[in-house]
Amino acid sequence: MRLILLGFVGILFFSCQQNPSLNNKTEELKIDQKVEELLSKMTLQEKIGQMNQYSGFMDFTGPQPDKGRTAKKLEHIKSGMVGSMLNVHGVKNVRAVQKMAVEESRLGIPLLFGFDVVHGYKTISPIPLAEAASWDLEAMKRSAEIAAEEASAAGINWTFAPMVDISRDARWGRAMEGAGEDPYLGSQIAKARINGFQGDDLSSLNTIAATAKHFAAYGFAEAGREYNTVDIGTSTLYNVVFPPFRAAVDADVKSFMNAFNVLNGVPATGDEFLLREILKEKWDFEGFVVSDWDSVGEMVAHGFVKDGREAAKQAVIAGSDMDMESYHYIEELKTLVEDGEIDEKLIDDAVRRILKVKYELGLFDDPYKYCSVERQKETLYNTKFRDDVLEMAKKSIVLLKNENDLLPLETSGQNIAVIGALADDKTSPLGSWRLGADEGTAITVLEGLKKYDKNNYTYSKGADVVTGEVSFTRELNVNNIDKSGFARAISAAKSANVVIMVLGEHGLQSGEARSRTRLDLPGVQQELLEEVYKVNKNIVLVLQNGRPLALPWADEHIPAIVEAWHLGTESGNAIAKVLYGAYNPSGKLPMTFPRHVGQVPIYYNQKSTGRPKLPSPGEVFWSHYTDEKNSPLYPFGYGLSYTTFSFEDLKVKNTYTEDNTVLISVKVTNTGKRKGKTTVQLYIQDEFASVTRPLKELKSFEQVELEAGENRIINFKLKDEHLGFYNTKGEFLVEKGSFNVFVGEDSQADLSNSFEL
Ligand code: BGC
Repeated sequence: MRLILLGFVGILFFSCQQNPSLNNKTEELKIDQKVEELLSKMTLQEKIGQMNQYSGFMDFTGPQPDKGRTAKKLEHIKSGMVGSMLNVHGVKNVRAVQKMAVEESRLGIPLLFGFDVVHGYKTISPIPLAEAASWDLEAMKRSAEIAAEEASAAGINWTFAPMVDISRDARWGRAMEGAGEDPYLGSQIAKARINGFQGDDLSSLNTIAATAKHFAAYGFAEAGREYNTVDIGTSTLYNVVFPPFRAAVDADVKSFMNAFNVLNGVPATGDEFLLREILKEKWDFEGFVVSDWDSVGEMVAHGFVKDGREAAKQAVIAGSDMDMESYHYIEELKTLVEDGEIDEKLIDDAVRRILKVKYELGLFDDPYKYCSVERQKETLYNTKFRDDVLEMAKKSIVLLKNENDLLPLETSGQNIAVIGALADDKTSPLGSWRLGADEGTAITVLEGLKKYDKNNYTYSKGADVVTGEVSFTRELNVNNIDKSGFARAISAAKSANVVIMVLGEHGLQSGEARSRTRLDLPGVQQELLEEVYKVNKNIVLVLQNGRPLALPWADEHIPAIVEAWHLGTESGNAIAKVLYGAYNPSGKLPMTFPRHVGQVPIYYNQKSTGRPKLPSPGEVFWSHYTDEKNSPLYPFGYGLSYTTFSFEDLKVKNTYTEDNTVLISVKVTNTGKRKGKTTVQLYIQDEFASVTRPLKELKSFEQVELEAGENRIINFKLKDEHLGFYNTKGEFLVEKGSFNVFVGEDSQADLSNSFEL
């Protein structure tokens, strides 16, 4: 076996390609000088102040701090003991707080204003997992641009997004916030989102600094339970968890955020290996690392350090530059340095990184640059954003089933029963993590449908999804048992030509601290579905949810199923356009949908076991369940269209010997009767390797739109970066041997060819 060890040289080569132009270099030098000058004027206390971040006085996204602290926070801002605020937004608020820092503190260093602008600020795009289903990188970049434009007009200069955590576990509520299960797709999306938020010029008025979070492996929380321990091997860490973070560094992301979890015995916030060795040394990350909410303090609860002082010490030594809401930096770092327990050089390094981003944003030239009342008024909810978020929403929808072409619906002469509380909910479609949005600003499915006014609609709720108070910070009541609305829904269904049932999860049933043990329809919705089915089988099931659900009954019985996630402001319009065929669905699942929650974690890029196949009929000793299939309900990459596509002539044009490149081509034909778009996906399998490789790995994809009957040749290029992998020591290897290549419309693609390296 010949090994080609790319290691550091390869990594340098890849990152050199991303280097800023010469102009940017000069600019950077100037900024570095300014940072040094300022740093030399700062007292130790002022330096530590830059490393301190407080939450504002409006929204909380973690345990609420003791209210008595507010006065102290204000006092700290005025005395230069705060470097950044989170959860202060709106130009009036930002200006007022910035004024305290700039006009009252000794050095007048402006504050960073961070906020979770995850999928929009006021005009809301689909939740990130839904956007990932579009596989449309330009559209996702545009979505982040809109978010940055609105947020920056409201005083915000830093977003805590994108979340680039890979997750294979639908029980984990935060799967909604990421790009799904695949490291390649996740890396492409990470870059697109960062480019959207940060643009080409961070000092522009409409761009903001981005954050790659949560470093690292938060998506692998054991049993899908929020904040839980993570124990994974180095192969998974390097090949699955790290790639999107590495892509974020290549895209010049300005900050990283720690993860809440313990990774292989060490809390991520205090992990020198993660933050110093990998991120800052190996990847040469020049931005700064912010902790997660009190994740510095939580190292005590983890049993890693005995008190806040030790926590602050360990976090700084590890490389966490800014402390979000634990107060331990501001309370402990000064004496830790004075007592010789922390080298002041580490403090200087952290402060340099933070100041640099402030200079890059242009805050020293004008600390109030994002604080124009007129711009805010003009920008928030500007109708010019609506078309783009509508496009994004349409592209995010995945058609899961469409028996007998029930969809698209006829646009006139139909009596349509619309059933389900979500069909008439103006808030739930905004989804989770849209802290700046106003309640009730989403277009409902019912409103969207009614624009097709040549059909008659009868609406009945049937049953609630959740009951009682629905809030981001409070536990939801998910055990609705009230079936009093069933009778009306059933009677409406009886006389309808078609029934549209909008079922699923409330928008706040996913997101942080929203883990589930079940992946079914919450409350009595499954029962409602089955009761309605008894009187009318012509059902279109529209799902709204923030994670993959396991719905085997629906898959077996319901003729048409549409995955519509939480699609944001334009939700109902997008869904109606898909149901009526004004948009031919093109979404592809970014995460595997299981048959049963017991299969989780289930993901396409699994490895082979030693006993992958049934030896002969009736034998039991092979890798399987005795009560369920191994296969998913809907695989990664899957999604139907109102047309069909065929794939043929998969050719491997030249081999690795020429130019370290493998060229692959395939012919794609639209074999149906409508124009349509699909995502051509290329997977490889490295058959034998020194560290076993998955049965399939996505390595490239391309979207193609074809008229009925039209065909096109799609070309792919595979290079070392696609063909290699990281071994357990973190070395990148390209090993000789045989590879299989598969091309098709989802991860079960079986059109294959092979090549040798
Ligand atoms: C979340 C972060 C978020 C932070 C600030 C934490 O609870 O884990 O992702 O950015 O709160 O709101």
